[in-house]
Amino acid sequence: MLVWFLTRALPGPAGGNYVAYMTPTKILLPEDELPTRWYNVLHDLPTPPPPVLHPGTGQPVGPEDLAPLFPMDLILQEVSQDQYVDIPGEVLDVYRLWRPSPLYRAHRLEKALDTPARIYYKYEGVSPAGSHKPNTAVPQAYYNAKSGVRKLTTETGAGQWGTALAFACAQYGLECEVWQVRASYDQKPYRRTMMEVFGATVHPSPSELTEAGRKILAEDPESTGSLGIAISEAVEMAAADPSARYALGSVLNHVLMHQTVIGEEALLQFEMAGDKPDVIVGCTGGGSNFGGLAFPFLREKLAGRNSVDIRAVEPAACPSLTRGKYAYDFGDTAGLTPLLKMHTLGHEFIPDPIHAGGLRYHGMSPLLSHIVALGLVDAVAIGQNECFAAGVRFARAEGIIPAPEPTHALAECVREALRCKESGEEKVILTALCGHAHLDLPAYASYLAGDMVDRDLTDEELSVAMSTIPSR
Ligand SMILES: Cc1ncc(COP(=O)(O)O)c(C=O)c1O
Repeated sequence: MLVWFLTRALPGPAGGNYVAYMTPTKILLPEDELPTRWYNVLHDLPTPPPPVLHPGTGQPVGPEDLAPLFPMDLILQEVSQDQYVDIPGEVLDVYRLWRPSPLYRAHRLEKALDTPARIYYKYEGVSPAGSHKPNTAVPQAYYNAKSGVRKLTTETGAGQWGTALAFACAQYGLECEVWQVRASYDQKPYRRTMMEVFGATVHPSPSELTEAGRKILAEDPESTGSLGIAISEAVEMAAADPSARYALGSVLNHVLMHQTVIGEEALLQFEMAGDKPDVIVGCTGGGSNFGGLAFPFLREKLAGRNSVDIRAVEPAACPSLTRGKYAYDFGDTAGLTPLLKMHTLGHEFIPDPIHAGGLRYHGMSPLLSHIVALGLVDAVAIGQNECFAAGVRFARAEGIIPAPEPTHALAECVREALRCKESGEEKVILTALCGHAHLDLPAYASYLAGDMVDRDLTDEELSVAMSTIPSR
């Protein structure tokens, strides 16, 4: 309320008026206020999420089941109930290359939308990869290097995660091998170059290098791939090499926890701005940027210190939270992972090759799924044309071209701001701007040329896809 009125019209040099905003456009934390702990939301939930199950025995998996894929430090973080985990100094040193990241007040977008809402965005595009992904790539590479691992394998959809891990591996002297979803490999050749500059080896997925890839290619030589297939390939390669481990860019508890550095910074920045969000929106692929921003605010809500509405936004082409089933399913297409209780469209579901490659995942973080099931977070699905319209609107007002994934959050942010315009409410909206689109420009070219397609996903298609969910 107060901040909204603290703007003044001043005489400009050419006789017109310009506006001097009393809320700064960039709310910047000094480097010595970089948070030194990650937040573990598990500690504060009214009930714990259902356990991860071994597909053979149906029993909860133990640390030894996960040891072929992950180092013990990360396995312990995965099951930790501690409220906070200290960030190692060696990780903070690398974080300081771009953190703390800026919180922006979107004065110009507000004006363009003619809304009484106050809009803020937390911008993660300042990182070396251009997104939030290095927040977890760096600690994952660090703990693997510390435990003597030689190489990390991984998948990448948007190319952002592969770039982040390639950068992180270069920091700690690890080899990095990436399976990039075929649709993204073809759409984004410069992502591959960026990964190679950081020292990684990149393969299109599905590939002939793994049994999982060969099986898919035998059925469909033109397969555009999916995150589920690329995960199968990277897991298969890591499991076969005792000196290698696997790194996942989203979905798992420890990944979401590493990302909470975003929300912890944002809380401090809102304090500096003297403001408080009423609504938080973020896009969800596997849930990590969303959880990273939202969970520290959820902690405050559970403690009665705010009453924020928290909303996940997913693509209409891959609507796991809004149209999927909350059930035990595999995290990958070939069924190599343990069973995770999550919102899923079925592990064999291959989403349309929409431009938001990072959101083309059949499942969702089990932790976020549980939180949605508890009613603490709600979800909405939006088609890609509306998202790119919001992305273009945002770029023209704020000067940053958003990655295709966060255009989903922006589309919901625009909807909310326009609802405020209708109702006259002065809500404070915080949106996760988790990356820029400098290497995703073909997606914008397609939108501007009017070539972008929103295909309706029928109930019948979804029920066929969900028939592959194992019955339990
Ligand atoms: C820029 C960007 N945003 C969002 C996502 C979705 O992942 P998550 O839901 O884990 O943030 C990705 C994944 O690749 C991404 O690259």
